[in-house]
Amino acid sequence: MLTLAPWDPARADEVRRLLGPAPDHGVSFGRGLCRPDSDGSGPRPFGRARLLLDGDGAPVGVAAVRENPGHPSRLRAYVEIRPDHRRRGLGTAALAALGRLAAAEDGRRLHVRCVRGTAGHRFTEASGGVEIQRARELRLRPADLGPPPGGWSVSRQLVGPGTHIPEDCVRAYRDSFAAGHRDWNPARERTVEDCRRDFFTDIPAVFLAVRRPGDGSVAGVAFVDPPGLDGELFGPDTGFSGWPTDLDDPDGPAIVAALLAAAAREAPDGELVAEVDDAFRATAAVVDPIVREVLLDLVHAQL
Ligand SMILES: CC(C)(COP(=O)(O)OP(=O)(O)OC[C@H]1O[C@@H](n2cnc3c(N)ncnc32)[C@H](O)[C@@H]1OP(=O)(O)O)[C@@H](O)C(=O)NCCC(=O)NCCS
Repeated sequence: MLTLAPWDPARADEVRRLLGPAPDHGVSFGRGLCRPDSDGSGPRPFGRARLLLDGDGAPVGVAAVRENPGHPSRLRAYVEIRPDHRRRGLGTAALAALGRLAAAEDGRRLHVRCVRGTAGHRFTEASGGVEIQRARELRLRPADLGPPPGGWSVSRQLVGPGTHIPEDCVRAYRDSFAAGHRDWNPARERTVEDCRRDFFTDIPAVFLAVRRPGDGSVAGVAFVDPPGLDGELFGPDTGFSGWPTDLDDPDGPAIVAALLAAAAREAPDGELVAEVDDAFRATAAVVDPIVREVLLDLVHAQL
């Protein structure tokens, strides 16, 4: 018998010990969803976490469902079962209970994020999850692309506390971020000032903008997180996340190549660790031939 008990922070350490060290990024991400409940009122988004107990009241796992405030149309869901209790249907029962919990109180569909090829991925597929996006973290060496195309100027600006990025750059970032997520994980509507606050003021980073020859409009955007800036999102590596502002721009490959070449100049070893969702088609196509290592291959699925 499986019982769902309210999340008890006092038992969190005991449960963590029973679950063991996180074997992959999907698991560590999911465990981060296990936090005290919130009903969605005030600034805290909707979230529920439950301890899974067997008939004797012993913990056998955890389950959580939580809104991602940046992408509120679905709820992130996570189930984890103790290694010594797996393949007995407990995960399936917990996911069904989570679905009922979310539906009763909220009604939004569930969104699962797991690492391709793991037990979590097989379980997601067996539970009827449909893949809606491939999201990879890739080690790249942009020099392997050869010299960047001429004619594209790239501006470099520091982002973080006390900086001010021009409005056309923030607007271009907001609109292209929304376009790249629209079909699979719609982003919360943001004003330009919301976007500035959410992405451009807290965490130090380098922001690159490619300007279109002729009218000077923003044709490509990227965040770069080099070591030493205290952004700390990519540890000792230089992080990259960028794309053309028009996802179907015929010049998209040249714009991405210009961004990558400029980003590589921020990297002490010339290598980047890029976050690439396939929805950003031009970026995915340009980086494919220069992948040195796939660090993370994430599946986003909808249930
Ligand atoms: C994924 C997880 C929750 C599955 O829990 P579980 O209690 O073993 O799942 P179930 O017994 O209900 O399995 C249901 C089906 O999923 C599939 N499945 C589950 N684990 C699998 C594995 N290791 N390999 C292949 N298929 C698997 C099977 O089709 C299984 O049915 P079957 O046993 O009749 O073949 C568990 O492996 C776990 O905690 N993993 C770490 C956390 C995680 O990745 N969570 C997924 C994100 S929601």
